[in-house]
Amino acid sequence: MIIAALKSPDATDLRSVIHPETVNRLLDLEGCSLIFERGIGENINVSDDQLIALGLQASSREECLSQAHLIITPSPLKRIEIEQIQLGATVIGMLNPFYAQDELKALAEAKLNAVSMEFIPRITRAQKMDVLSSQANLAGYAAVLEAAQHLSSALPMMMTAAGTLKPARVFVIGVGVAGLQAIATAKRLGARVEAFDTRDVVEEQVKSLGAKFVKIDLGETGQTDQGYAKELTPEQIEKQKELQSLVCARSDIVITTAQIFGRPAPRIIDGETIKKMKPGSVILDMAVETGGNVEGSAVDEVIEVNGVKIVGVSNLSSRVASHASFALSNNIINWITDFYNQESKSIHFDFEDEVIQSSVLVFDGEIKNERFA
Ligand code: NAI
Repeated sequence: MIIAALKSPDATDLRSVIHPETVNRLLDLEGCSLIFERGIGENINVSDDQLIALGLQASSREECLSQAHLIITPSPLKRIEIEQIQLGATVIGMLNPFYAQDELKALAEAKLNAVSMEFIPRITRAQKMDVLSSQANLAGYAAVLEAAQHLSSALPMMMTAAGTLKPARVFVIGVGVAGLQAIATAKRLGARVEAFDTRDVVEEQVKSLGAKFVKIDLGETGQTDQGYAKELTPEQIEKQKELQSLVCARSDIVITTAQIFGRPAPRIIDGETIKKMKPGSVILDMAVETGGNVEGSAVDEVIEVNGVKIVGVSNLSSRVASHASFALSNNIINWITDFYNQESKSIHFDFEDEVIQSSVLVFDGEIKNERFA
């Protein structure tokens, strides 16, 4: 089986889907050879020669598409690229199916198989494949560093001969994987951290990191069986905004991470809240790519409203691209090695398996997930 690894065509995504420290696990698979798109590791200081020395072959994007039986991609492929792939091949990676629905249809029309790493089920066995978690974790870390860069104060308390410097107050809204890492990072940097989430099950996790959980009673909220938040009613969102604005007003940094899987991000900070905040304070909107949690936030821009900086950064995990590539490549390799059949030297699509059922969106030309059919 020829496996091809593609480069990201997005200049803001610096990650690579293969990494020198993980790739030997693919090379060790009996009957597999690995080709890669030239320049794939240039943003993580990995040269083509380094990969060639490990036993991989450098190729053009066109060669990767036309020769491979399994294509690893960091982003959805264009229809014109899909047409170059051989019949029956499998495409695995970040397929962004909620946004790239036409591309998903093109994969089905070309009679290919498609594995969306965004649809790895949230079960213990599949945690090693969970790209959303591995990338959100690093994004949460990068978000705090990015927000700190825009603040004109330091984060920790400092008792100096020139007087005592107060610690910064950081408020994290949304305590999933990214939010938890943001809390932990801000704590490590010495900030006073508060956090809120509609899933009150996270209160204990917030406290265990030494942060304060902000209690806002929104009535019935809850989570899905996959651990994702349920969407709030417009009335609940209004109540949340009102009570949350009091915490925002006393915070130096607000980091929003609120997401609803498969839906646009909830708008939880509006102009009224921003008006109450101190000039010089910073809001970092981690949901900016899925519609934004913050009124006025824009992708890869810093917007200033009444002296409050609203920061939107795309591909935050890319800020730590080497670690992000290591984790991403390991996640994908874990999927491949679990389903590679040594005898047939191909992927075994066992639809009795929960991971296959959830992550394989297209099989043999058929869209398997009814959300996209
Ligand atoms: P996510 O990226 O979909 O959402 C981020 C956070 O935003 C969530 O905690 C959500 O509750 C929160 N949120 C949504 N609407 C909000 C609002 N209006 N106000 C404030 N917060 C709001 O979620 P993520 O990080 O992918 O995962 C959520 C949870 O799933 C994790 O905390 C974990 O418990 C669980 N999980 C389980 C895994 C497993 O068992 N394999 C793997 C990864 C996560």
